[in-house]
Amino acid sequence: MLFGYLLPCTVIVGGFFGDEGKGKIAAYLAMKDKPDICVRGGNGPNAGHTVIHGGVQYSLRLIPSGFVNPSTHLLIGPGVPVDPTVLLDELRKTDSEQRIEVDNQCAIVEPRHKEQESRSDHLSKKVGSTKSGVGACNAERALRMAKLAQQIPSLKPYVGDTVGEIQKAFSENKKIIIEGTQGTFLSLYHGTYPYVTSKDTTASAACADVGVGPTQVDDVIVIFKAYVTRVGEGPLEGQLDRDEVARRGWTEFGTVTGRERRAAPFDFKLAKRAVQLNGATQIALTKLDVLFPSAKGARHIKDLDKAAKAFISAIEKQTGVPVMLIGTGPKEEDLIDLRAVARSPRVRTAPIVRQN
Ligand code: IMP
Repeated sequence: MLFGYLLPCTVIVGGFFGDEGKGKIAAYLAMKDKPDICVRGGNGPNAGHTVIHGGVQYSLRLIPSGFVNPSTHLLIGPGVPVDPTVLLDELRKTDSEQRIEVDNQCAIVEPRHKEQESRSDHLSKKVGSTKSGVGACNAERALRMAKLAQQIPSLKPYVGDTVGEIQKAFSENKKIIIEGTQGTFLSLYHGTYPYVTSKDTTASAACADVGVGPTQVDDVIVIFKAYVTRVGEGPLEGQLDRDEVARRGWTEFGTVTGRERRAAPFDFKLAKRAVQLNGATQIALTKLDVLFPSAKGARHIKDLDKAAKAFISAIEKQTGVPVMLIGTGPKEEDLIDLRAVARSPRVRTAPIVRQN
């Protein structure tokens, strides 16, 4: 891997329990690096990605966050369950009808899937599901009974062979961003089962979701928030009580359900495991300003104080992967981009080890 700006194929995934700020990072990269294609892998409309662009806040559940760049082609890969109502609404809100393609093999989330999940005490009470119907849809797909996008008249104008599009883009050396969803430890295989979502959420799964093979990937960016949050049930090591979360200014609410998120300090052990599970080559760290208010709005590493820099170094040291992007505020441009200065002494001194 070479450090520098976006390489032809980059995968973006969450490193903890979702809500790490994938939307913001994907939107920044879409504007800065101008990918030809942003393709959504991962799970379905149970995901919620927040993007603030041009003073408007978008809460997206299906459309790739890279929509902010009007010249980027938007795809939804065949592994992603699609709820037509959610999709059509987002297409309208983001004005992206002319540049979206949904794979003809996407499974369809139907109203009865949502009803099925709402009726299940196991999902509602034990797992703390978002009840978006995504798990029921995935289960039906595994039984080979789910409807596919190609069967839905309202999706007809948008349906096509997205895998063919991506593979053509590879042959033309175009730039591609693959967006995953949720977080590594909500993975059906690698997470805190049964308190997980209904499919694997690691980088490998995101690639399979969109029809990209392992050797076609150049970079994997794993995103960590400066502290850990979790909605729904399941273990959260170091969880703080509500008052302490509020005192630290870490109170957050879920994008899809509006539920209050539980919170804990940054977990170095989990971060290391996430780096390994995803084969990460870079880390993006978000909300540094929430942990270190003096970092608010910083655009350069020199603007960070000693404590913030020490925190970043500790992450690099313990995971063995460089922190290349640092979020310092909610807006897309509140960010320190270290990719251009990656050969500076700061990174050279970090023990960069490929996780093989
Ligand atoms: P489900 O995938 O909606 O059934 O939810 C299963 C678990 O994953 C619950 O704990 C949800 O809160 C969590 N979850 C699902 N999607 C997201 C997400 O996008 N962000 C954070 N948590 C999520």
